[in-house]
Amino acid sequence: MRKILLATAAIMALTGIANADVIAERKELMKSMGKSIGAIAPIMKGEKDFDAATVMAALEALKADADKFDPVALFPEGTDKGGETEALPTIWEQNDEFKADAAKFREDTAAAVAANPQNIDELRPVFQQVASNCGACHQTFREKQQ
Ligand code: HEC
Repeated sequence: MRKILLATAAIMALTGIANADVIAERKELMKSMGKSIGAIAPIMKGEKDFDAATVMAALEALKADADKFDPVALFPEGTDKGGETEALPTIWEQNDEFKADAAKFREDTAAAVAANPQNIDELRPVFQQVASNCGACHQTFREKQQ
């Protein structure tokens, strides 16, 4: 019995380490996506002039991150615990929806790069389409921010 308990504790500790790694990895990816959005936001707000190179670099970075955003590998079941995480259990309770949100995000970032906006009027709908994915997914699958 004692041996079994020890073995269980060891497995749980190892799982904890694995969870912490995958949690850190997906948070890094999210932070990078936040940076890309942050590079375009001042242009959208009119605080900075439109610059096609800046916009395209940010859209391409977003697309690359969206392609890396694997809703299965980065969200093993149970990783709403085992580290500092804002992931909600709804990720696994409504897993099809979570995967669909990730897929839509990938498609929208690819479409944004393909659209290749050349001025603020072209950028506006492209950016809104991409950025709507962030809030839509966070609403259901990420703990509310204070
Ligand atoms: C398909 C779902 C989904 C999409 C789309 C999505 N996110 Fe997230 N995001 C999450 C989840 C889940 C977390 C919580 C991860 C955790 O804490 O383990 C998160 C966390 C974050 C964080 C906090 C990272 C940290 O350091 O704790 C930032 C910043 C973020 N997302 C930005 C974005 C931006 C910007 C976009 C859109 C360009 C976006 N996300 C799109 C699901 C998504």
